[in-house]
Amino acid sequence: MTDVEQRAEVLRVLRAVRSVRDLRPDPIPDAVLMAILETARWTGSGMNRQPWTFVVVRDRDALAAIAAASPNAGHVANAAAAIVLVMDGEMPEITTFDEGRAAERILIAATAQGIASALGWIPPEGREAVRSLLGVPEGRRVRTLVSLGIATEAGARPKSAPGTARKPFDEVVRWDRFG
Ligand SMILES: Cc1cc2nc3c(=O)[nH]c(=O)nc-3n(C[C@H](O)[C@H](O)[C@H](O)COP(=O)(O)O)c2cc1C
Repeated sequence: MTDVEQRAEVLRVLRAVRSVRDLRPDPIPDAVLMAILETARWTGSGMNRQPWTFVVVRDRDALAAIAAASPNAGHVANAAAAIVLVMDGEMPEITTFDEGRAAERILIAATAQGIASALGWIPPEGREAVRSLLGVPEGRRVRTLVSLGIATEAGARPKSAPGTARKPFDEVVRWDRFG
C-alpha cells in the first residue's frame, strides 16, 4: 500500500465508525481485544493524567446485569465483551473530555479490526449497581461502556443511505467566522 493509500485507509476507517447494536455473543479473539485495549491505553488525556481503568467484561451474567442497569444500552446483553470505562473522580470537566476521547478510540480500534461496537450510557440510577457488580471503589465514575462483538446479519446491514446520517457539511462548517 502506498503512503497515499494508507492515509486514505485511515480516513476510511474513521468514517466507518458507526454504532452496531445487533451483536453476536460469540467470543472475539484475545489478540483483537488486546489490540483495542492497547490503543485505548495510548489515548491522550488532560495533563496526561490517564484517569481511566478499562474493565473488560466477558461474563454473560455480568453483561446481562449491566444491560439491566442501562436500558438504553441493551446491546451489551448480546455483546461478546464490553469495556466499561471507570474514571477517577477528580477534575470532572477534563475527565469527562478524556472519557469521550478514550471511548472513541475504542470504537475506532474495533472498527479498524472489523469488530462491531456500540457506545452505551449507564444512567445515574444504574451506576451504583454496575459499580458494585464490578467491584469499583466509591469515588470513581462508571458511566460509559463500549459493547464489542461480531455483527449479526441485521447489524451488518447499512443503517441508512450513504451520507444521510449526518447534518449537511455546510450546516456544521463555517469558514473564518461563525456568522
Ligand atoms: C454521550 C453519548 C452517549 C450515548 N449513549 C448511547 C446509549 O446509551 N446507547 C446506544 O445504543 N448508543 C449510545 N450512543 C451512540 C449514539 O446514539 C450514536 O453514536 C449516534 O446516534 C450516531 O450513530 P452512529 O454511531 O451509528 O453513527 C451514545 C453516544 C454518545 C456520544
